[in-house]
Amino acid sequence: MNGISLTRYLIEEQRSKAQIGADLRLLIEVVARACKTIAIAVGKGGLGDALGDAGTGNIQGEAQKKLDVLSNEILLEANEWGGHLAGLASEEMDHPHPIPGQYPKGGYLLLFDPLDGSSNIDVNVSVGTIFSVLRCPEGMTGAEDEAFLQPGTTQVAAGYCVYGPSTILVLTLGNGTHAFTLDRELGSFRMTGRDLQIPADTKEFSINASNARFWEAPVKRYVNEMLDGKEGPRGKDFNMRWVASMVADVHRIVTRGGVFLYPMDSKLKDKGGKLRLMYEANPMAFIIEQAGGAATTGRERIMDIRPTKLHQRVPVILGSKNEVERVTEYHAEG
Ligand code: AHG
Ligand code: MN
Ligand code: MN
Repeated sequence: MNGISLTRYLIEEQRSKAQIGADLRLLIEVVARACKTIAIAVGKGGLGDALGDAGTGNIQGEAQKKLDVLSNEILLEANEWGGHLAGLASEEMDHPHPIPGQYPKGGYLLLFDPLDGSSNIDVNVSVGTIFSVLRCPEGMTGAEDEAFLQPGTTQVAAGYCVYGPSTILVLTLGNGTHAFTLDRELGSFRMTGRDLQIPADTKEFSINASNARFWEAPVKRYVNEMLDGKEGPRGKDFNMRWVASMVADVHRIVTRGGVFLYPMDSKLKDKGGKLRLMYEANPMAFIIEQAGGAATTGRERIMDIRPTKLHQRVPVILGSKNEVERVTEYHAEG
């Protein structure tokens, strides 16, 4: 089955399993097309005029890179006219982008982190796009923040595209997690991994260790036990990796297992965490769970959180099931 195009995969899902309708199929195709455009912009590097700061900031108070702004525009322009969406929300926009009046509106909401891992753009390290699809609730237009405030369990699709040595789209429609690699000559995504499965156990963890002194006790205990290696309570050595692009770190975990943590720490308390629930944590949690992994804040399942704000932040612990369960137990023990 390997090697079928994304288009064929979507059509087969639509036909045989009635898993998706024509609107959702169009939506995924349009997002994939936008990701190709972003991949081209990212790939031009210093040859284009895309590197460096945009000179503006987003609602989270972060400086925007030119490619953050450009990727956001690419996703908006690709998606606003097709008639499949009621509204779009993004890390780079304070409030949802309504569908312009001249276009028909559809029943879905699209949320995205247009370019994840911005700090890596200028140093030629992998970055990515993350997206989540929800249904627009009855009685809402899709232009209000409230329309988007649904728990991750209501997602109908989620995916990410990693712009690395190859461009890979990883997608779930709630029926397993599948990978599609961009064939640059043909310009089409082809399936290179069906039903990805994350091993339940791992010897690899991913955390920004420079925050160690700010972590809560359960995370300190968990990481220290891994650092103690063979001689410690875990009785085995662990390896550590941190790309600082969530997409790249998650992609490694989806490929060969591992555990990723951006936990609560004392300097993040006021913000609620580092990563954003609606367009980083929820879509990644959906993808990870569909691949047999788990995703929690340390205290609750990510996808069960009832969101209160569009740009809400949460602690994130995800990946190989047994490791995520262990950290979560350490939190419960206090
Ligand atoms: P973004 O570039 O969309 O703001 O996201 C960056 C996120 C995430 O990709 C990554 O895991 C994390 O920030 C890195 O944070 P540190 O720089 O604190 O390691
Ligand atoms: Mn991000
Ligand atoms: Mn981003």
